[in-house]
Amino acid sequence: MADSRAFEPLEIASHRGPYRVVFSNGAPFGELGAAADGTLLLDANVARLYADALAPVRARLPCVEIVATEDAKSLEQMAAYVTALSTCALKRGAPIVAIGGGVIQDIACFLAAIYMRGVDWIFHPTTLLAQADSCIGSKSSINVGGIKNLVGTFTPPREVIVNPTVLDTLTNEDVRSGIGEMLKVHAIKGPEAFDRLAADYDALLGDRAVLLRYVRDALAYKQELIEVDEFDRGPRLVMNYGHTFGHAIEAATDYGLAHGIGVTIGMDMANHVAVALGAGTAAHRDRMHPVLAANYAGARRPHIPEDRFFDAIARDKKNVGRQITLILPDASGRIRRGQYPNDERFRSACREFLSSLR
Ligand SMILES: NC(=O)c1ccc[n+]([C@@H]2O[C@H](COP(=O)([O-])OP(=O)(O)OC[C@H]3O[C@@H](n4cnc5c(N)ncnc54)[C@H](O)[C@@H]3O)[C@@H](O)[C@H]2O)c1
Ligand SMILES: [Zn+2]
Repeated sequence: MADSRAFEPLEIASHRGPYRVVFSNGAPFGELGAAADGTLLLDANVARLYADALAPVRARLPCVEIVATEDAKSLEQMAAYVTALSTCALKRGAPIVAIGGGVIQDIACFLAAIYMRGVDWIFHPTTLLAQADSCIGSKSSINVGGIKNLVGTFTPPREVIVNPTVLDTLTNEDVRSGIGEMLKVHAIKGPEAFDRLAADYDALLGDRAVLLRYVRDALAYKQELIEVDEFDRGPRLVMNYGHTFGHAIEAATDYGLAHGIGVTIGMDMANHVAVALGAGTAAHRDRMHPVLAANYAGARRPHIPEDRFFDAIARDKKNVGRQITLILPDASGRIRRGQYPNDERFRSACREFLSSLR
């Protein structure tokens, strides 16, 4: 049965004032009918899959089409996008209208901060990861010289329009990747929220109404953290749960798996390491493990070379001196940030987990 609460807009406070996340279940991109001004920044796969639905808006607004890869969101590429925007005669006051997943979001958000010292941007997220997680929070993250997310800005959008009907064309892997970030934010909210989502895991994959309810919940839980710490200096840092390990797995496999799959494995690993370091309990680890393992079991999972994994862990941006910063569950299952020595105890817990994956 349709849940009307799932369609209630959210209003997110930011340093530039509030912005709304509106939910729609109309025809794909029907909301763009009213867009009168601006330049489209459009994911090339979405352009191909939704050519008919996008035709009316493309007839009215100029469009920059981008193939969503990690190279596409590198600093080295930004000059070409700026040139493309100026060729489209994007004037100050006219927004960038971004349509795509996290890659298009990062590019649009960054360009909105720098183009003519700032223009507005509006976001139509088209991946589950972007709808349930990345679309709010103001951050742009841009790669430099092969180093992921090294530079960025805090540039909130003017509006976000979430339409889950566009998720039907995602690959199974991209759906699981988005669910990985949803599991993360529910785990941070607390054990009850996580257990609720875990109990509905199978329905998420097959019932759009259930999925949308949890997408909205994930955004509402993330909202609680970003509104108290928009600039990522304290409480919001727990959103990196699963990411220290997940990023290291992504780097060690040359990005051979989807981001949210790396995060799912990363949470399972964090829970395992937490027990070895005396921070978390085996009960918490074992409670979360079945749904995390189910989420990554069905996805592409390349071999993770240990030496490359440990090199990446040692280079993590959050580290302080010789200590590594880890976001782990505590004894009550709450997610906390702490400093730990990068010693043999830590490394052997990681090795043990990695060998359990094989
Ligand atoms: N700035 C932030 O707050 C933030 C947060 C999390 C992740 N990210 C970044 O987001 C990126 C990952 O985002 P993502 O998973 O959305 O990846 P993505 O943007 O690369 O999209 C994944 C794939 O799905 C395709 N696609 C998009 N919408 C589709 C649709 N409706 N149907 C079919 N295919 C579609 C894309 O073309 C691409 O091939 C990473 O670069 C990550 O660093 C940023
Ligand atoms: Zn993430």
